[in-house]
Amino acid sequence: MVNPTVRELVEMRYLFEERFIVDSGKIADRLGVRATALEPALAATLPSYPPAVESIMRGMTAPERYTHGHHDSVLRAHRWRTAENSAGYLLPHLREGLSLLDIGCGPGTITLDLGERVAPGQTVGIDRVSRPLTDAREAAADRGLTTVAFTVGDVYQLDFPANSFDVVHAHQVLQHLTDPVAALREMARVCRPGGLVAARDADYAAMTWFPLDPRLDRWLELYHRVAIDNGAEPDAGRRLLAWAHQAGFQDVTSSASAWCYSTPEERQWWGSTWAERVTESAFAQQAVSAGFTDDSELQDLAAGWRDWGSAPDGWFAILHGEILCRAG
Ligand SMILES: C[S@@+](CC[C@H](N)C(=O)[O-])C[C@H]1O[C@@H](n2cnc3c(N)ncnc32)[C@H](O)[C@@H]1O
Repeated sequence: MVNPTVRELVEMRYLFEERFIVDSGKIADRLGVRATALEPALAATLPSYPPAVESIMRGMTAPERYTHGHHDSVLRAHRWRTAENSAGYLLPHLREGLSLLDIGCGPGTITLDLGERVAPGQTVGIDRVSRPLTDAREAAADRGLTTVAFTVGDVYQLDFPANSFDVVHAHQVLQHLTDPVAALREMARVCRPGGLVAARDADYAAMTWFPLDPRLDRWLELYHRVAIDNGAEPDAGRRLLAWAHQAGFQDVTSSASAWCYSTPEERQWWGSTWAERVTESAFAQQAVSAGFTDDSELQDLAAGWRDWGSAPDGWFAILHGEILCRAG
């Protein structure tokens, strides 16, 4: 178990690297060069940490770059989520007294809803970085939910003994990992025999919308390129059942459900969030840094999102895959 000081340093370094990717992309674009040409010089300015931290960093983050990052435009989108709109497939299986682990909980809105349903059972939300957990802790205090705790942790190496939880849940997390099957195995380890491992992920290729707009087509193409460049799988929804089988689960129920944004308020929120995400978030900067696009095209895509958001007939649907796996 990592002591808190080392853990804090690891996280600082992780956030610094996330910021580094964003900044080097911006600087490279301003200079009209590829970020990869600039990175060695900029990397020399990264602070150095004790060898113990560097070795943890190598094991922990080298292969994993989280496509969205934690810009406020991203967290704003995540805060809209509730157990009802994002975990409906799991709700019938929850009852008071169960213990629950929510992995990659982000700002924790879903975690808190799930926590309310299983209280007085204990709920723990974990995320690889603590930035979104500040929001989550504040929201827990606002709701007076003392049975829910939030802590930093990594799905590949959970800081819990085997068989610790009745329910282990991850929403929109597996799609961002380079090894979702290893993550599911680790989730199974901490789930008690007979308990449930539950996951839900979007399937980007199955997203669909109206009015048609080539700028939104290009956004989707760019998202796929960046996510795949990060070693992730943006079309995760359709693969969840296969991943569960590969992880060794034999009793798996799979399903699908969709989010749909079509009221004026939903359109305004979703369109403006993505307009900002395509220019300000880690996704945007990774896209520039990898040489897939430039600032001027991203501005064009942002305008596309704003136009979609104000279209009176605007409609956007996101298909998700879901799995409920019975732990053996
Ligand atoms: C798309 S967000 C989902 C947040 C939340 N579950 C929700 O649906 O609102 C994915 C989250 O997974 C976290 N994450 C990424 N890799 C992780 C890892 N290896 N272990 C734990 N969390 C991770 C990210 O930091 C991010 O907050």
